[in-house]
Amino acid sequence: MKVTVRSFAKINLGLRIGSKRDDGFHELLTVYQTIALHDVIRVSVARGDGIEILCGDPRVPRDESNTCFRIVERAMAALRAKERVVIEIEKRLPVQGGLGGASSNAVATLLALERALRKPLSTEERLLVAAEVGSDLPLFLVGGTVLGMGRGEQVYPLTDLPATPCVVITPEVGVSTPKAFAEWDQLTLPAASDRMNELGRGLSAWLSEPYSSAPSHFLRRGGRAGNPLLWLDRAGIENDFEQVVFPEYPELREAKRVLVRAGAKYASLSGSGSTLYGLFASKDAAAKAAKGLRKQGLAAQATATLPRAAYWKKLFG
Ligand code: C5P
Repeated sequence: MKVTVRSFAKINLGLRIGSKRDDGFHELLTVYQTIALHDVIRVSVARGDGIEILCGDPRVPRDESNTCFRIVERAMAALRAKERVVIEIEKRLPVQGGLGGASSNAVATLLALERALRKPLSTEERLLVAAEVGSDLPLFLVGGTVLGMGRGEQVYPLTDLPATPCVVITPEVGVSTPKAFAEWDQLTLPAASDRMNELGRGLSAWLSEPYSSAPSHFLRRGGRAGNPLLWLDRAGIENDFEQVVFPEYPELREAKRVLVRAGAKYASLSGSGSTLYGLFASKDAAAKAAKGLRKQGLAAQATATLPRAAYWKKLFG
């Protein structure tokens, strides 16, 4: 039996890096948001043993360094299952792009595997297995707008941002996340706890806006009360990684500026990059901006944020 699932990407609506912990990870505070861009994953099980990864993209590893491989190993042990597992990855998302592609692929693989084996893990086991493989995996077990804390693996569903038009720019360069964290540690900054509190205040201000019930025309109407996208900026919600990634790759800072000039209400680096995204007030504005950016030679795609219910419906749909 072959199970096919969509493996959606995420963006970060703000990301604060806190202090480095004894285990080497950094405290994080972020809001993850799933978007409609996706890879496709196919999982099949057969008699035998071993894990095989098939992927047309040479940048995707086929061995145990692949997150899909690692999650299957753990899930098979937790389920006490002994079959051969074949994972096909149809890669459309950038590799090392800050869109959580590898993390999302692993979660999609896990969900497809459970279906293929007809053996579900409990919610707790699923979250545990996901967090063991990487900090950015558990968010994909929630979907929609998700608060991330701890090293990013502690996830809490937030009231969903309504489906919002979005333009994603995927530059050629890949940014190494561990390297970006290491560079962050070299910066001299005010106390980490103050900075976390500051983003916490910004997020509460933003989240207390009544956007959850806002019909889409609210997004088109200007003004502070009606536009949650403008609030993101006003609340001072930003991504700390920009401070270390932009100096190294000035073209990414420029791409963010270009998004704003093209009409984005809010633009940011996603995760540690190199992907940049802009949120737009209408689908038309996003489509037009993406077209204009492509004319300037940037790899831009128009898409939309994916609220929780749509995420789960389309994952298996
Ligand atoms: O958890 P994940 O495998 O995605 O993390 C990759 C690397 O990124 C870690 O080994 C660590 O160096 C760094 N990291 C970190 N703090 C986090 C998440 C990741 O320092 N909160």
